[in-house]
Amino acid sequence: MADAVTKLAYQTLQQGKSLVGVAHKEVSTRLMELLAPKGAPRTRPVQPQLLGELQACHQQLLDVDWQEAEQGLYPTSLLFDAPWLDWAARYPLVWLDMPSTWTRRSQRNVQDLPRDLETSAFPDYYLQNFHHQTDGYLSDHSASLYDLQVEILFNGTAEPMRRRVLKPLVQGLRAFSDRPATSLRVLDVATGTGRTLRQIRAALPQAQLVGLDLSPAYLRQANRWLSQLPSELPQLVQGNAEAMPFAEGSMQALTCVFLLHELPAEARQNVINDCFRVLEPGGVLVLADSVQLADSPAFEPVMDNFRRAFHEPYYRDYIGDDIDARLTAAGFSGIRAESHLMTRVWSATKP
Ligand SMILES: C[S@@+](CC[C@H](N)C(=O)[O-])C[C@H]1O[C@@H](n2cnc3c(N)ncnc32)[C@H](O)[C@@H]1O
Repeated sequence: MADAVTKLAYQTLQQGKSLVGVAHKEVSTRLMELLAPKGAPRTRPVQPQLLGELQACHQQLLDVDWQEAEQGLYPTSLLFDAPWLDWAARYPLVWLDMPSTWTRRSQRNVQDLPRDLETSAFPDYYLQNFHHQTDGYLSDHSASLYDLQVEILFNGTAEPMRRRVLKPLVQGLRAFSDRPATSLRVLDVATGTGRTLRQIRAALPQAQLVGLDLSPAYLRQANRWLSQLPSELPQLVQGNAEAMPFAEGSMQALTCVFLLHELPAEARQNVINDCFRVLEPGGVLVLADSVQLADSPAFEPVMDNFRRAFHEPYYRDYIGDDIDARLTAAGFSGIRAESHLMTRVWSATKP
């Protein structure tokens, strides 16, 4: 009975998030067409049949999310975990930030970054306003709005999609079941504001967690979110995922969520190669990113609209890329992949 009530509460919460996301995008698109018509993206209409398929996949995602919690992979309380009050307080800031986003979009200005920025620490491909985001990934302002913006973009499914890395991660770590759980090191590559680390902490309360990202501001935000947890604070490290400051074979598992589509092809391969280097033999890499043309051809209009509406310079290349081939080229074996709504999750083992 308690389970049925919790499940209903979860489904209702997700429907509420979805409604907020859809309404927000509808209103903001209309406003942009009215106030900044030159900047308004020309997106393609999504046909009713495709909308139906998306809704079915949305429901399947929520069902899997619930089932995996019920199986004990993570506590059901994680399904309700979000900084609700903080997001409510920040929501007006998302609107206040929009006019500058529209201006950048209409002027096709994708290099509008903080003036005092020391750029030499970052690769060229990183120094742009991904998603037309104010300051790119390079300010506290950007980091403070990012999570809420992503939840709105995904109609409240960002966290359920991130959680899909947990099952292959926990299964992959069984290779080290003869070791104490406290000795296992799990690295989240491109951790951003640490939302994936928060999910991993709930599934692996004893493991040593590490998060790496290029953005000092996003790591500061991750520190804020993660220090609210009663458990040990993950180690947060600033660095480039192409050449990580970790010793060869020093991690038993790696996750990497929503990074690959923001990298040029060469950097994508470099990241996968460095993940291979940092993993101990027997360790698992779990990647999550956008679905691609080969696995989800019916969703092509949605992928295309994403690229049209947001500044995502490497997305078109990414959706046609062969990630399995890249994993194989790096040396991985046992490659598996499955899709959950708009997210594809790969897991692979270092032999
Ligand atoms: C779309 S966000 C995803 C963040 C996080 N994983 C999540 O699920 O929200 C991409 C992240 O990748 C980081 N990033 C981009 N290129 C990187 C690189 N070469 N090395 C490390 N981090 C990088 C950005 O700073 C940003 O935090």
